[in-house]
Amino acid sequence: MSAANARWRQKLHLEPPQGWMNDPNGLCFYKGSCHVYFQYSPMGARGEPPRGWGHFTSPDLLRWTFTGMALQPDIPEDRNGAYSGSAIERDGLLHLFYTGNVKEAGDYDYILRGRGANVIRVTTADGVEMSPKEVLLRNSDYPAFCSCHVRDPKVWEEDGVFRMILGARTVDSRGCALLYTSDDLTHWQYDRCLSLPDTGYMWECPDLFTLGDTAYLSVSPQGVPAETYRFQNVYSCGYFRMDGDTPTQYMEWDCGFDFYAPQTFLAPDGRRLLIGWMGIGDIPYANPTVPLGWQHCLTLPREVKQGSDGVLLQSPVRELDALREDALPLQNGTYSLPFDLCAQADRDFRLSLEGVQMQFADGVFTLRFTDDAVGCGRTVRRAKLPQCRSIRVIADTSSLEIYLDGGRTVLSMRWYPAATQTALCAESLTGSLYPLCGMQIDY
Ligand code: FRU
Repeated sequence: MSAANARWRQKLHLEPPQGWMNDPNGLCFYKGSCHVYFQYSPMGARGEPPRGWGHFTSPDLLRWTFTGMALQPDIPEDRNGAYSGSAIERDGLLHLFYTGNVKEAGDYDYILRGRGANVIRVTTADGVEMSPKEVLLRNSDYPAFCSCHVRDPKVWEEDGVFRMILGARTVDSRGCALLYTSDDLTHWQYDRCLSLPDTGYMWECPDLFTLGDTAYLSVSPQGVPAETYRFQNVYSCGYFRMDGDTPTQYMEWDCGFDFYAPQTFLAPDGRRLLIGWMGIGDIPYANPTVPLGWQHCLTLPREVKQGSDGVLLQSPVRELDALREDALPLQNGTYSLPFDLCAQADRDFRLSLEGVQMQFADGVFTLRFTDDAVGCGRTVRRAKLPQCRSIRVIADTSSLEIYLDGGRTVLSMRWYPAATQTALCAESLTGSLYPLCGMQIDY
């Protein structure tokens, strides 16, 4: 890889060796390792087919090995892509559930006709070698109110029963999530549907989990109208607090330019972790890594905790602290990437990095590119916060993850500074900057 190419290769974030990456899939800890599968199109940085699952594994969330393509689309029921899904361990085997995407040849709208969405399962003993595929659900098994868009099975166990949640678009274009139950992970019965009016026409990548005694439903809805301080991206992504079967209080997971399709999973010690795609489909800007042969990355693994008011707080997993070198006092200067900046504020503040300005003023956090060579078409994002007493920025070679006020508001984005260092200018902030060692990522 030439020096110019290497400049934007990430040091802390998982990205494909070449080709296209989107949603994280099948996140789990299994036989002592963390497995991160992801939507992968190795043949082209724009997502050219075939689309299947790539795979990384790690013993400690710090040292990662890319094992290649774990699932290829190679049966009639997944011929146009092995789409997103999840993993669950049972009886010493890992079961992977995914969507087999099918597009019939012909003159179809691919919404009400012409598309197949099959729930398919494979098992694996080592995370890499897969069993033959079994088709468990087809479009004819979904409720009659569903269009052809039904996908992204997330499977978990609750009170001795297996549950699956699928994202869907109804025939009259409302987003919803379908719940199924099973005793054996093979035979699935439709249980019920979760939805909320005026929350988009399609819900992708649903995830239902509990924290404390509260259930949360995470979804990536398409079609939520943009507002000045919310839903500024082409597709939104957030969670609802559940009140029984009713989703309430939709909160965005991340208000940055580049975040979508997160999935949560449990660490062996009980922490609820989340990884998202640091990218979005159909973006109105271009990533300059495309001509170099790859596009997109995943976020860092984040721990999700419940705030006192039910809002979820996100923070980078504590394992990452092992990458820290000695703390430097936060002061203006030039710093090498990557780093972890942790600062406190007792009033409005500003923080500038190469080509990017962050400002908290009058209850609004504004993230603005000041140089289009660094933003590459991204412009501004805003978030309203009642207060902002802390900011943490994990700056990698070509991404920023910004955690505000203890992770109550998070903004993730790609940036493309000219060098592997950045000027930094802070106003009304005190704190530390930890230079970080890169992770070990073996491709
Ligand atoms: C979300 C998504 C999923 C689908 C996958 C295909 O980004 O559209 O709904 O399964 O990507 O790659």
